[in-house]
Amino acid sequence: MFDGVAARYDLTNTVLSFGQDRGWRRATRTALALRPGERVLDVGAGTGVSTEELARSGAYAVGADLSIGMLQAGRRARPAVPLLAGDALKLPFPDGAFDAVTISFALRNVTDVDGALGELARVTRPGGRLVACEFSHPTNAAFRTAYLTYLLGSLPAVARSVSSNPEAYVYLAESIRAWPDQPALAARVQATGWGRVAWRNLTGGVVALHRAWRD
Ligand SMILES: C[S@@+](CC[C@H](N)C(=O)[O-])C[C@H]1O[C@@H](n2cnc3c(N)ncnc32)[C@H](O)[C@@H]1O
Repeated sequence: MFDGVAARYDLTNTVLSFGQDRGWRRATRTALALRPGERVLDVGAGTGVSTEELARSGAYAVGADLSIGMLQAGRRARPAVPLLAGDALKLPFPDGAFDAVTISFALRNVTDVDGALGELARVTRPGGRLVACEFSHPTNAAFRTAYLTYLLGSLPAVARSVSSNPEAYVYLAESIRAWPDQPALAARVQATGWGRVAWRNLTGGVVALHRAWRD
């Protein structure tokens, strides 16, 4: 599916999110509190748009993704960003290799979410941190209703005019609706090798950043 959306992935994101995606990526970088020289892994990096943002901190940021189509689009768009083929469920790195790990809009797409969170913990050094940036659930009831109307109604229609694979955006809407809410995801992070789990809502809970430390 991601091979099919790769060609226009970055543009479609920005259009469908009304440009909010840039702020969400900046907030992810800030929450990671990266220092120059640290090593950070961006899992499910896709075209490297999230990895590129991390590198602005001065840390060494490397992206890994399962979709060769997304990686190829990323190599063309961002030749300076290191991107590798790799599965979130079997990362090609030794234990404790990274100071920090992050996953943006990809955890929802992994077939085994708990397995991926455990694998992220494995490649993070003790005391290192995780930030997961993912679509979540707006906390205000009226806003939630308006958002769901957009998500399930207008978003697939807009995607039809922008994306190289509009059907993928029907899946996007359905997968967001089925995703665990903020406390439920925090409990799953806590159960997979991470401690001190907390979250912060962005855009009223359209997106949530879950942050945790490696036990
Ligand atoms: C919505 S994109 C997110 C890309 C980027 N992180 C961003 O913020 O825009 C989700 C990515 O997760 C990747 N993905 C899904 N399952 C994966 C897995 N098991 N291992 C690595 N990447 C995976 C997909 O190939 C896709 O590129």
